[in-house]
Amino acid sequence: MTTQGSVWLATATIPEYDGIRADKHADVVVVGGGVIGLTTALYLQQEGASVVLLEAGRVGRRTSGNTTGKVTSQHSAIYANLLDRHGPGKAGQYATANQAAVEEVADLVNRLGIDCELARTPAFLYSAVPDSPLRREADVAAAFGLPAHFVDPEELGLPVKVAEAVRFDDQLQLHPARYLAGLATAFAQAGGRIFENSRVDELNTDHDIQAVTTQGPLVRANHAVIATLLPIGLTGGYFARTRPSRSSGIAVRLPVEAPPGMAISVDSPVRSTRPWPGGGPNGLIVVGSNDESDAESTYQGLVDWVGSAWGFDAVPEYRWSAHDYGTPDLLPFVGKAPGTPMLVATGMHKWGLTNGTVAAGILRDLILDRGNPSTGLYDAGRIGDVHAVAKLVKDNLHVGKEFATGHLDRLKGGLDHLEIGQGGLLTLDDGRTVGGYRDHDGELHTVRPVCTHLGCPLQWNQADTTWDCNCHGSRFTSTGAVLDGPTTKPLDTPR
Ligand SMILES: Cc1cc2nc3c(=O)[nH]c(=O)nc-3n(C[C@H](O)[C@H](O)[C@H](O)COP(=O)(O)OP(=O)(O)OC[C@H]3O[C@@H](n4cnc5c(N)ncnc54)[C@H](O)[C@@H]3O)c2cc1C
Ligand code: FES
Repeated sequence: MTTQGSVWLATATIPEYDGIRADKHADVVVVGGGVIGLTTALYLQQEGASVVLLEAGRVGRRTSGNTTGKVTSQHSAIYANLLDRHGPGKAGQYATANQAAVEEVADLVNRLGIDCELARTPAFLYSAVPDSPLRREADVAAAFGLPAHFVDPEELGLPVKVAEAVRFDDQLQLHPARYLAGLATAFAQAGGRIFENSRVDELNTDHDIQAVTTQGPLVRANHAVIATLLPIGLTGGYFARTRPSRSSGIAVRLPVEAPPGMAISVDSPVRSTRPWPGGGPNGLIVVGSNDESDAESTYQGLVDWVGSAWGFDAVPEYRWSAHDYGTPDLLPFVGKAPGTPMLVATGMHKWGLTNGTVAAGILRDLILDRGNPSTGLYDAGRIGDVHAVAKLVKDNLHVGKEFATGHLDRLKGGLDHLEIGQGGLLTLDDGRTVGGYRDHDGELHTVRPVCTHLGCPLQWNQADTTWDCNCHGSRFTSTGAVLDGPTTKPLDTPR
């Protein structure tokens, strides 16, 4: 029996916090309680600032609670690419910052006494193709001072074809949800205030900054950090300067002991693996990119891959999916958003446990008016590579056009034909398209399947029972409540 949902969230106790009930004052308001918001809030509170953190749902339960839990400077095969695009200075800075972030996370876990299955382990990068770019990747990474070595593929212990491999020594794996619980607890113990179920609808910047919540109360502050995965609404235009990318994961027990290290393939489809201590010595986590396929096919692809590699009929115990954002030039956007006094952090390229820790340091230092070696590197105001941005905008338009021309599957028949647990787009007799879902009690829920961010049509995700917007990553529950921004508004009901 497979449980739908992150293995980490199912096996952690994250403290719960009340919703906001009255207006508050603070030096800093942090919007979003993922790894970036929590780390930033903790850093600032520990420095003596008074911080209020507003979280739309529960802390740590969106992308950060759905990661693979790898804390590593090995961000797939990135260093040769960074060198070619940005030159040795910036590529080297990225390497240094992210390797330092690995040690910073280890230090935080030890100092705060967080019980999160932290373990030192090698991180492998591999390819099934001989003469792949991996030898150069290892050389470039090593030249930047990273513990990278081109190694014998046998070292991985993976029963799949491996022609070339790179090993990064002394990296970390952890239980991400327990790590996040530890950060939240430490922040609250330092005097920080967390309000859950307190979605921020808008940020007014007329005099001081006001973070206005859907619930009514607002927080007045001198500084605002928007750590909502992608900045909400239209802030800084980041929705057009980033690209959402979804991945799915499974937790499975193998018939034999799992390979001890973390590994990620550079070939497509990407397969990212690591031990799953909760599953015993045979426990393995496998994560893969959704690429163009839907969530259900991605889950099946992961199960098939495990089954064929280890030669058994694999049945995962958990399966889950989440998304993160990439930028055209591979560097995150962290710092002051153009045209506003607000600070943002986005575009972690699925490496937010290290990149996000670097981001938290930058945000803290910007607010405390201190220097930070990574501020310029991750500058949130940069335009980025012109050709890459043009491609991104074109891709966005393509997505919109695809939807507008209606190439989406529609279910046959009317709403009455929806079975228990089934959802999808339906064309009514009068020609209108509505979104419908029949829940397990038989109740029918209908929505207007149009994204409340910028109006892209939505796609039904049967595997996760969500309404997803492929334009900029907003997601809604089957009944239309917001799960992920940039939107802050629930779906309309059909007229
Ligand atoms: C499947 C997968 C595996 C990954 N594995 C790894 C890994 O092994 N190692 C690694 O380094 N990185 C990994 N990543 C990337 C990493 O998980 C992300 O980069 C990181 O979690 C981003 O953190 P965040 O704080 O920006 O976002 P989130 O964790 O999504 O936090 C944002 C928070 O903001 C809240 N929010 C949103 N809108 C509002 C609003 N209007 N008002 C108030 N709150 C709001 C949300 O509810 C959420 O809690 C992975 C990503 C994916 C998708
Ligand atoms: S997220 Fe931008 S239109 Fe849906």
